[in-house]
Formats: sequence, structure tokens, C-alpha cells
Amino acid sequence: MSVVEPLLRVRGLTKHFPVRTGFRSAGLVRAVDGLDFEVRPGETLGLVGESGCGKTTTGRMLVRLLEPTAGTIEFAGRDITHARRRALRPLRQDLQIIFQDPYASLNPRHTVGRIVAMPLQVNGIDPPGGVKQRVRELLELVGLNPEHYNRYPHEFSGGQRQRIGIARALALRPKLIVADEPVSALDVSIQAQVVNLLRDLQRDLGLAFVFIAHDLAVVRHFCQRVAVMYLGRIVEIGDRDDIYRSPRHPYTRALLSAIPDVGTLGPAGRIRLTGEVPTPLDPPSGCRFRTRCPKAREVCAREEPALVVHDGGRQATACHFPETGPLTLSRADAVGPGGAAVVGVADAAPPGDGADRVDGNAGEVAR
Ligand SMILES: Nc1ncnc2c1ncn2[C@@H]1O[C@H](COP(=O)(O)OP(=O)(O)O)[C@@H](O)[C@H]1O
Ligand code: SF4
Ligand SMILES: [Mg+2]
Repeated sequence: MSVVEPLLRVRGLTKHFPVRTGFRSAGLVRAVDGLDFEVRPGETLGLVGESGCGKTTTGRMLVRLLEPTAGTIEFAGRDITHARRRALRPLRQDLQIIFQDPYASLNPRHTVGRIVAMPLQVNGIDPPGGVKQRVRELLELVGLNPEHYNRYPHEFSGGQRQRIGIARALALRPKLIVADEPVSALDVSIQAQVVNLLRDLQRDLGLAFVFIAHDLAVVRHFCQRVAVMYLGRIVEIGDRDDIYRSPRHPYTRALLSAIPDVGTLGPAGRIRLTGEVPTPLDPPSGCRFRTRCPKAREVCAREEPALVVHDGGRQATACHFPETGPLTLSRADAVGPGGAAVVGVADAAPPGDGADRVDGNAGEVAR
């Protein structure tokens, strides 16, 4: 149990999209299927998984751009799961989102000044010194020239446009920002600059982040905690260092193996992903990862593994046969946006005896 009250507390968060062919229901896309996690003030949680695993859907539910099918979202102690528009208004200030695509998320017909000022105007906020002054400060804060106030988005590069999106998200001085793959659309050379900017802002402004990424390289430098998603579920969650040093879920290991240049990851530790992610319209029974997991056994098809702490580890892992051999990052600093990780297998520990169930309450585990 943490002493600091969480800023965000998510329980059983679920989003099922009904799909139809013509007038007939063709089933449900189980995009997000029962997530439990918390984010404390000033903390960054990385939400990582392959494309289609439900990251964007999760992020959009958190900022209430999408209505959850089930579960609860508490923000600063308030249940906001189904808060209506008016009740959401003060909350909108505290909870912001940065989108993946800096091209699509800025109105091409509006000047940068107007784009960044929009949240202030929509919320009827007149900051000391005026809106224009505040926008100039924000542009400066994100490393843009405040004199470019009257320029249009097309006059900026991709990295600069993402900075505009960040300035807009900061305008209301939020407490939490959901950043949905904020650097995926950018050139590799620019990615590190934008991640560094976000990290500086996090440190200087005490912001909390849910930072969404499709690989583990980007979040390494930015997130204190990491949750790994697969097909709408969290399969592993824990402190960053634990996740990178001793990933226990075969999928987490596979994601680490996928970071380029993991040449020193021995055959015992390497798990290569084969095959496609199954459709969330009809996810596999039991463990959803079983169709791609080299360790899958009969029980994996029968029983869904709970997200629990195993064998005295610190992270919670949803696997019947979690890995026990620690990985050591021999060149941890080599991991970064566009960078490479060198992961070596330390002495493989003998397999453990099983899981310490934590009262069947994933919430206790998935802090
Ligand atoms: N509006 C929607 N209607 C039906 N299916 C959707 C909708 N939005 C997303 N999905 C599906 O939900 C799953 C998760 O999507 P998404 O959250 O965008 O994943 P990610 O961001 O991890 O790539 C995908 O299979 C996607 O096709
Ligand atoms: S529960 Fe079974 S199939 Fe799922 S990750 Fe663990 S070993 Fe693999
Ligand atoms: Mg996405």
C-alpha cells in the first residue's frame, strides 16, 4: 500500500465495441478487458504493448473521450467514470491528452497562438498578464520561439508540431497527461528530444503521466513504472527497474528481445514472437498470449492466469509459469528512443514453486 494517495485509480476498466454487419450484430471487440492500475501524483506509468492491444482506447477512456463499458476511473479521489459534461469541466483542466499524430491533431487553419490558447478560452480562463502572454510563456516552455505565435502548423516540423501539442496540453496546468505514443510518428533523431522535453516538464512541473508506447525502448528513460498490455489485458506491471531487470512474463521478455541489438541475450532468455496477435473479437481462452507463447501448456488454454506477485518478486505477472531468471541490462543507458538495449541473462535461477496469490485482489497488486 502506498502512503501517497493515488491521483488516478482504475479498476476493472473495460471497453467492448459492438460490431455489426448490416443490421446484424457480429459480436464485440474486446478492446480493453478489465484493467487495474494506479498512478500517483508526479509519477509516470508506461503503458506498453503491440499495436491493437488497447492502449489508445485505454488512454481515451482515462480522459473521458470514450465511455467505458465497465469498471471505474477515480481521479483525485472522485469517481469520474460516468461524469457528465458539466461535472467534467473542472476536471478537464487537470487531465489532458497528447495525441500520437502531431499532424492530424492540430487544426491547419488556426495559428499556433490560437491553438495553444484554445483550452484557456474554452474554459473561460483569463490568466494574469493575459492569454497572449500565457501562450508565449507556454511556447517558450516547450522550446519554441514565442515570436512564432502567428504561424500555422504547416510551417513547423513534426517535432515542433508535437511541441505545440504539448504546449496546448500544458495550458491549463494539468496534474496528469495521457501521452498516446507522442513520439511514434516522429523521426528517430527527434524522438529523444521530445521525450527529454516531457521528462523535464514532468520533473519541473511535478506532472504525472500515462505514457503510451508500443515498445519498451521509449519508456525506459521516462517511466518509473511500466504496465505491459496484451490483447486488452495487463500481463505484467511493476517498477521500471524490476520489469527491465527481471521480466517474468514471456511476453515482456519477448518485447525486450525485440529491442534492436539484444545480441547478448542468450538463447535461454530469448523469446521470439511468432504469429499474429489474435483478434480481440474472439480472444483465445485462458491466457490470451497462449497462441504465441513458447511455454504454453494445457492449463494455459483452460485457466486465465491472474495478475499476481510471484515468488517474492515485486512486479505482478499474469502467467501460470512465470520466468524466474533475471535479466541484466549491461548497457542500460544504451536504451532510449531509437536506441538499442543490450540485455544479458544472469545466472538462471531454478523455476519457482508457483504464485503467491494476493487475496485474489488484483488491485492490491497492480498498484
Ligand atoms: N471504435 C471502434 N470500433 C471497433 N473497434 C475498435 C474501435 N476502436 C478501436 N477498436 C479496436 O480495438 C482494439 C484496440 O485498439 P486501440 O486501442 O487503438 O489499440 P492500440 O492503441 O494499442 O493500437 C483494436 O482491435 C481496434 O481495432
Ligand atoms: S500462462 Fe501459459 S501461455 Fe500464458 S504466458 Fe504464461 S506460460 Fe505462456
Ligand atoms: Mg494506439
